[in-house]
Amino acid sequence: MTGVFALTVRGLEAVCAGEMARLGLTVGEIGYRRVHAQAKGDLRPLLALSTADDIFLEVSRWSAIGHTKTALDTLRELAGQLDLYSALAVCSQLRPIDRRLLFSVTANFVGKRNYSSDEIKMALAAGIEASTGWTYSPDDSVAVLNVRLFIEHDEALVGVRLGATPLHRRSYKQEQRPGSLKPPVAAALLELLHLDGNAAFLDPCCGAGTILIEAARRGATAQGGDLYLDAVASALANGEHAGVTLAVEQWDARSLPLGNGSVDAIASNLPWDRQVAIDGDEATLYAELCAEMERVLRPAGRIALLTNQPDLVQFERLVCREQIEISLFGQRPTIGVYG
Ligand SMILES: C[S@@+](CC[C@H](N)C(=O)[O-])C[C@H]1O[C@@H](n2cnc3c(N)ncnc32)[C@H](O)[C@@H]1O
Repeated sequence: MTGVFALTVRGLEAVCAGEMARLGLTVGEIGYRRVHAQAKGDLRPLLALSTADDIFLEVSRWSAIGHTKTALDTLRELAGQLDLYSALAVCSQLRPIDRRLLFSVTANFVGKRNYSSDEIKMALAAGIEASTGWTYSPDDSVAVLNVRLFIEHDEALVGVRLGATPLHRRSYKQEQRPGSLKPPVAAALLELLHLDGNAAFLDPCCGAGTILIEAARRGATAQGGDLYLDAVASALANGEHAGVTLAVEQWDARSLPLGNGSVDAIASNLPWDRQVAIDGDEATLYAELCAEMERVLRPAGRIALLTNQPDLVQFERLVCREQIEISLFGQRPTIGVYG
């Protein structure tokens, strides 16, 4: 068994734990923005984990990390004792590792300390350089190995990123738009819908197409649209980068050119005025969007919506089955699942 942990958007820990369990992992402790698990056999499927921001091999846990600057000496010493060669061996089974081994360090801590995260990074980098002869790079994008440290109270957790780049950074996302969604959050909406591979899926306000692409990657037939032509172009371009086929058109989602009960599932992050300009007042827009989504959804179909105005989401017959508050863009929007 190999110990791993995933990092998530705050609020999505349980959703990510569900996806990890579905991939055959034995989920253990679930903490703040973190899910720990044990993996058996080939770790490659973990690099396809869609709802995690990133996934790490668990390398070590340290205790008695103090709040004063002397802790930096302790961290340097402990970093020098890490068994990074085993982590490197695991990573090299999953991806090519450049022989000129550049490593980066990411450090976070909770609570007040007399040292900064930059000082933690430098302490770890010095310890690792001295013990391995590898070269520290402050630029994570050129590093082949990322060492990640979290300090909470006086405990520290050390991990090594499994992939070459963070999981949340999808290479398809080349066209950005205001309010465009972080891919793991898009994937979480679909995970909550239990979107199955043959579903006819709709995102009526698709922006740059993140949710549509994540749905198409799960095998769904993904259809969507946006009020603006440049959004449609961005969604189609991103879909092409992702190698998936999307049906996207310019439309007003208050009056969809779709038949009654013609889609199996809907997910969207609805426009809210702090992100994108909206047409008219929010209450009227939401009432019209909800009525139209309910009309095109088949009986027993489900809808997952992300918005910071959950009170404005109201359907005639669908009821809210689940509500999750998350942290995103410095705000606290809510995912609601309706069915
Ligand atoms: C929060 S953004 C969606 C972002 C998208 N999920 C992504 O990842 O890029 C909301 C989108 O709704 C679109 N929109 C606003 N009013 C609309 C309407 N009446 N019909 C269709 N789309 C609309 C906006 O143009 C914007 O692209």
